[in-house]
Amino acid sequence: MSKCIRISFIGFGRMGKAMAIGFSKAGLEKSCITVYDKLSSARKDAESNGFRVVETAAEVCKYSEIVIVAVKPRDVEEAVKSFANAAEGKIVVSIAALVPLKKIEELLPKSVVYRAMPNIAVEVNEGFIALSPQSRRSEYLESVFRLLGEIEWVDEETLNMLTFYSASTPAIVAEIFDAFLLSALKAGLQYNIAKKALSTVFKGVGALLETKSVSEVRDAVITPKGVTIKAIEKMYVYGAKQRLVKALNDAYSEYEQMLSQGK
Ligand SMILES: NC(=O)c1ccc[n+]([C@@H]2O[C@H](COP(=O)([O-])OP(=O)(O)OC[C@H]3O[C@@H](n4cnc5c(N)ncnc54)[C@H](OP(=O)(O)O)[C@@H]3O)[C@@H](O)[C@H]2O)c1
Repeated sequence: MSKCIRISFIGFGRMGKAMAIGFSKAGLEKSCITVYDKLSSARKDAESNGFRVVETAAEVCKYSEIVIVAVKPRDVEEAVKSFANAAEGKIVVSIAALVPLKKIEELLPKSVVYRAMPNIAVEVNEGFIALSPQSRRSEYLESVFRLLGEIEWVDEETLNMLTFYSASTPAIVAEIFDAFLLSALKAGLQYNIAKKALSTVFKGVGALLETKSVSEVRDAVITPKGVTIKAIEKMYVYGAKQRLVKALNDAYSEYEQMLSQGK
């Protein structure tokens, strides 16, 4: 049965749209989800997906209890200022990376402000969403975001770390997935079968790792002298894992610099 929670999005780009679709898949009525995007093509897209579309950011507040700010970090200030007066008493959740809670609170003194850090799997209700600040932990907000996946209340420093290790990670995992896919195609497996098998493997391993350790999963597959240990040995011989860890560490250091410069 569909349910009405009045949520709106300022920004209907990749993440705003993924969240709105996730909410509707979880059973929220599309007509209760309101969208404003400054791009007319994004507004049209929202309309054709069945969401209510309005022509100004301030108008969004008329139709919502929760306003989600889903614009690029550089656009947050302008976006927030455009509806600040209308957002008195509303819950405003910024999903922008890099923009500190304090800055958004200063721009919205009359609203109850949160940061959330989702990842793109919210579209299929399998996301991970970090919520902050813990001091304003709200069961209501928690129940809303739980519709999109797993949630965790964290301090802002942890939310910033999860911007890399949860929000960015689907893109990196997709690249790793692609390496398996390319190899499977080279071996002669049909594309559709390879993609179906591999996506099921990635999903299944994720589920197993919720309760088992990495070594438990690995040791349950390896046979002495078998094919799996050969593949794992090659990964170490070619430095694949070490290089991946270094790539992640280097990218994280660059991200930390962006954070400290407030970019
Ligand atoms: N994509 C992800 O996986 C992901 C994950 C976690 C968090 N986030 C965060 O989510 C936010 C949005 O990311 P995204 O990838 O969805 O970006 P996006 O695809 O560029 O979408 C942002 C949309 O907002 C519009 N916009 C810009 N300024 C606006 C304003 N003042 N009022 C209304 N709409 C405005 C943009 O229009 P223009 O194109 O004309 O500027 C665009 O259509 C970012 O802050 C990002 O850090 C993204």
